[in-house]
Amino acid sequence: MESPGERWKRAAAEAAVRLVEPGMAVGLGHGSTARYALLRIAERLRSGDLHGISGVPCSSQVEREARELGIPLTTLEEHPILDLTIDGADEVDPDLDLIKGGGGALLREKVVAQASRREAIVVDEGKLSPALGTRSPVPVEVLPFGWRTHVPFLKGLGAEVVLRRGGDGTPFQTDQGNFVLDCHFGPIRDPQALARKLEARAGILGHGLFLGLATDLFVAGPGGVRHLRRPSL
Ligand code: A5P
Repeated sequence: MESPGERWKRAAAEAAVRLVEPGMAVGLGHGSTARYALLRIAERLRSGDLHGISGVPCSSQVEREARELGIPLTTLEEHPILDLTIDGADEVDPDLDLIKGGGGALLREKVVAQASRREAIVVDEGKLSPALGTRSPVPVEVLPFGWRTHVPFLKGLGAEVVLRRGGDGTPFQTDQGNFVLDCHFGPIRDPQALARKLEARAGILGHGLFLGLATDLFVAGPGGVRHLRRPSL
């Protein structure tokens, strides 16, 4: 039987898929919650309720899954502006700012989010947090060349730094062949300032702070699914 956690993930994702309309170009997020959106999109395509859509996958894994499910795919070269993206998150604060990248797809996810008119985030209630960094490390994607040089830099910003490893103990590699440093900051007082510092450093190719990108949040828990929108919209 499906656990409550899985039920909530599925409910949040399925609610977000109601935003998908025929003809849309849609970003397909990575992770266990976004996967339920993929399944629901495929179901709507099969039933004939949806047609003419094309998806841009946020990872090679999602690309494979989408192909298996028969979801037509496109690229950002063909569609540099997407109508909607549905993706998960590791942590969400009250301003709808996020930490993402627990699954390692942070860089492509951010490129896709930036290209999207609407970025719908799907989570269960356990991902809500008063301040980013409270429950998740910030993943930082770095070039393998000179990766160790970033450790003292990140420590200087207040993080405990852990090189992400795969199941076989070797460094985890992103779809781009880069490494990920998981940075445990604890609650982050000024995420914007931290993002600026990370973005200014050569060799850091991406980070999991998604600030000002989410337009919609679908959050599920025992009371059902709530749909929140960024206040300025
Ligand atoms: C993938 O790189 C991440 O950004 C995911 O979106 C995030 O880790 C959420 O994943 P789950 O839905 O599996 O918790």
